[in-house]
Amino acid sequence: MGIRVLDGIEELIGNTPIIGLHRMFPGYSIYAKLEYYNPTFSVKDRAAFYMVKKMIERGEIKSGDTIIEATSGNTGLGLCMASIIFGLHFIATVFDDVSEDKIKLLQSLGATVIICPSELPSNEIGGYVWLAQALAAEYPHIHYINQFSNPDNPEAHIFSTGPEIWNALNGKIDLFVNTVGTGGTISGVSHFLKKKNPNIQTIAVEPVGGIYRDFFYGNPIKFKDHLIHSISDNFISKNFNKELIDDVVQVCDSEAFSCCIEMMRTEALCIGTSAGCTIGAIKKLIQEKVILHQTHVVCTLADSALKYSDSLLNETFWEEHRFSRPGKLTGDENVYLQKFFQKSGISKEVQICN
Ligand SMILES: Cc1ncc(COP(=O)(O)O)c(C=O)c1O
Repeated sequence: MGIRVLDGIEELIGNTPIIGLHRMFPGYSIYAKLEYYNPTFSVKDRAAFYMVKKMIERGEIKSGDTIIEATSGNTGLGLCMASIIFGLHFIATVFDDVSEDKIKLLQSLGATVIICPSELPSNEIGGYVWLAQALAAEYPHIHYINQFSNPDNPEAHIFSTGPEIWNALNGKIDLFVNTVGTGGTISGVSHFLKKKNPNIQTIAVEPVGGIYRDFFYGNPIKFKDHLIHSISDNFISKNFNKELIDDVVQVCDSEAFSCCIEMMRTEALCIGTSAGCTIGAIKKLIQEKVILHQTHVVCTLADSALKYSDSLLNETFWEEHRFSRPGKLTGDENVYLQKFFQKSGISKEVQICN
């Protein structure tokens, strides 16, 4: 079959591959939807494009207008794409510990990026969410997207991600496992899957320090900062629909980071840190026997390791946080390589990195 010629980048949104994680979880039926196959390399392209398209269809914005969004980067990148497609200007408000890779991509794709201090609560004066709202309130030509309560965010997943998962796995699903940022992905996919089969369970994943587990169980909420970008911020997103969730599992930062490296080395899947958190939760659920050999599990892996060159891919970051990187799977190359370097008199000139 020939390769179809596309008419534009929007045709590459969604229809991402689903892969069985048979090397990472031998003997289990665990499937992952690789969302970094979207145009700006994350799941957020789906919601970003859909939210803007809907605003245009409703006549709320038109070509030449300006949109603004509070983003930890990935929604912003999707909105850059949507802005290019629909001829809009885009302002992104981000906090100052967003990865440099995302900031550079946002700038390169034409966004105006405003960096806010991360020590301020997101919704209070100077915080990145507050600023996006305040600018839109001040200037009528600026339109706030508001992924945290915009119903088009989960709806994007009701119409795309959910059906794609259901169809690819022929409905053979017992458990859906997913992280929570705005809650758009988990609420939308869970809505669709539970409508198809109410026995499907949905487990939300967040880093230790996140507030969704306490929120879910009605406990007092106390946010503690963590290192997993784009998920479990310091406020509850309206688009997280508790009614569609059956449990919330927490994973510590070091485990999430280690799972990323393990996935790279066992499956050759270069996943980002929220995806590492998801894999950590699946491991935990296997240990706790919530996931059995016969359980059919599906998750989405939201973005790619390439967006985290200053943390996940940076050895110094691992050392600073005292995280231990999983060892290499293969043998004793270092021993004979060093021997060869010494014999050749090049030990000082060359360096082994692994
Ligand atoms: C890397 C990453 N993982 C997970 C999520 C969570 O997605 P959602 O906002 O649909 O909950 C996001 C959202 O921005 C993200 O960027």
